[in-house]
Amino acid sequence: MTSGLYPSPLLLLLCLLHVSGETCPSVCLCISDTVSCSSSGLAKLPQSLPSFSITLDLSHNHLSWLGPGSFSIMPKLENLRMAHNQLSVLGHGVFQNASGLRHLDLSSNRLHVVEQHYFQGLWRLEELLLFNNKITQVEASTLSGLSSLKKAYFSLNKITHFPFFSIQDHSHPFLTMLDLSSNRMSNLPWEDVKALPRLVQRGLYLHNNTLICDCSMYSVFWHWDLRGYDSMTNFAEEHTCSIYGDQRASIRFLQYNRFFHNCTVEKAVSQPVTVLLSSVLVTDGDKVRLDCQTSLSKDSAELSFTWLSPSKGYITKTSINDTLISLFPNGTLEIQAAKVNDSGQYVCTAVNIKHSLNATREVNVTVLQPVGESFNTGYTTLLGCVVTMVFILMYLYLTPCRCNCCKQPKCLAVPVATYDQNTLKSAVSPSIGDHRKLQTNKHVAFMEPMISEEGTEWTPES
Ligand SMILES: *[C@@H]1O[C@H](CO)[C@@H](O)[C@H](O)[C@H]1NC(C)=O
Ligand SMILES: *[C@@H]1O[C@H](CO)[C@@H](O)[C@H](O)[C@H]1NC(C)=O
Ligand SMILES: *[C@@H]1O[C@H](CO)[C@@H](O)[C@H](O)[C@H]1NC(C)=O
Ligand SMILES: *[C@@H]1O[C@H](CO)[C@@H](O)[C@H](O)[C@H]1NC(C)=O
Ligand SMILES: *[C@@H]1O[C@H](CO)[C@@H](O)[C@H](O)[C@H]1NC(C)=O
Ligand SMILES: *[C@@H]1O[C@H](CO)[C@@H](O)[C@H](O)[C@H]1NC(C)=O
Ligand SMILES: *[C@@H]1O[C@H](CO)[C@@H](O)[C@H](O)[C@H]1NC(C)=O
Ligand SMILES: *[C@@H]1O[C@H](CO)[C@@H](O)[C@H](O)[C@H]1NC(C)=O
Repeated sequence: MTSGLYPSPLLLLLCLLHVSGETCPSVCLCISDTVSCSSSGLAKLPQSLPSFSITLDLSHNHLSWLGPGSFSIMPKLENLRMAHNQLSVLGHGVFQNASGLRHLDLSSNRLHVVEQHYFQGLWRLEELLLFNNKITQVEASTLSGLSSLKKAYFSLNKITHFPFFSIQDHSHPFLTMLDLSSNRMSNLPWEDVKALPRLVQRGLYLHNNTLICDCSMYSVFWHWDLRGYDSMTNFAEEHTCSIYGDQRASIRFLQYNRFFHNCTVEKAVSQPVTVLLSSVLVTDGDKVRLDCQTSLSKDSAELSFTWLSPSKGYITKTSINDTLISLFPNGTLEIQAAKVNDSGQYVCTAVNIKHSLNATREVNVTVLQPVGESFNTGYTTLLGCVVTMVFILMYLYLTPCRCNCCKQPKCLAVPVATYDQNTLKSAVSPSIGDHRKLQTNKHVAFMEPMISEEGTEWTPES
């Protein structure tokens, strides 16, 4: 059943092709919008290609020459694959009327110079594959009109010079991959490289070239490495340079950087490298360790650390005068027993003095009161209240009366005239009865002073 059904869609397709007046070249396979003529032994382009194709695959053939306007009959062409052919030169106007091209694969051919007219008019081109050719030179304005370019692969060639200056923010706003690895570049125009848009620098691959070790080269790679670009992390081993241009004395400079000790890595590229944030939650009395891991930490031997703490201000190696706090050589700050008032934002600054670089790390520390203690505090407060109440009551009902009685003639049973020690003594003893009287109507004690004139003297006590 199924085997019987199978050929019919193919027949239908072929019928359609014939109906629309288009023929699929006999050596090719035409499927919907794709024409595949790969590995067909072609030495030249087939005569008639279907005009509606979006993808044309001519890879693995023997093409060595393409005439002007070769693809002008395919106005919808977007993907053109010509890898593994024998093209050594592209004549003028090969891609004339093919401005819809977005993906162009010319890898593994024999191109030796990329002339500036090659890709003229391909302003929609996003991906250009030129790896594994014999390219020695890329002419200055080759890439100029390619304003949609996202990825360009030039690796495995013999390029000695590349027009970095022609790539700028406004000319190539989408370029994020420029592979120039495995070429023959020994001296790059490092100033031009540093002037490349940040996105291009991030996607620039330069490993496995014949670089000559020098400080300007090292400076560029050092900063890329610091920023953790994939080109550095994925190809650390392949980044080599030769000392004094001697290919036999080649070093992996990302690992063995002793040669560059005398280099000053410029400040120009040294914005604050990273700010790493984190937060820490501990309980009162706990030991706290705050790491100062920053992007500079790789060279921790060359770093000095400063912590800014909310409770103790700046903390440096020399300022510590406290056994409860320590700052380790790796920047870790240790607080033996954190207090609630140690909470807040801690900022560590790691400074690489030699390279004038610094990086910061922020840690928000929150020290919580332990659950047990908060109860204790409450209990203590409660006890304090009770004690205070007792004292107030004692004061009100015991102490003030004596004074009051002395001052207020009304409540005195004895004459004040004879005012000496003895009379006072005698005066106090009979007043006990009065005191008892006061005690029976307590509230009066509070009310009276406010009413009586003399009471004003009485209220402001202790
Ligand atoms: C090809 O482009 C030229 C201008 O570059 C134009 O004059 C010509 O009509 C185009 N041909 C086709 C078939 O589109
Ligand atoms: C380095 O480049 C050479 C050609 O210049 C190539 O043969 C070799 O395979 C490349 N090595 C790596 C690891 O890419
Ligand atoms: C670095 O400088 C010192 C003296 O300042 C010198 O002895 C040494 O050879 C230099 N190293 C290199 C690799 O240039
Ligand atoms: C730390 O606290 C500060 C201010 O309290 C706040 O602005 C910042 O976002 C906090 N950072 C983190 C990592 O929580
Ligand atoms: C923080 O609290 C501790 C006791 O809990 C006290 O000794 C210290 O002085 C306080 N520090 C500040 C900055 O308030
Ligand atoms: C360290 O503390 C002692 C007393 O604890 C004080 O006399 C001394 O001046 C302090 N030193 C510094 C550098 O703060
Ligand atoms: C820093 O050193 C201290 C003490 O040697 C150690 O406990 C801590 O783990 C180290 N921190 C890091 C991030 O290596
Ligand atoms: C960090 O670097 C900036 C500029 O490079 C500098 O102004 C600042 O003082 C540095 N901070 C520290 C703590 O060294």
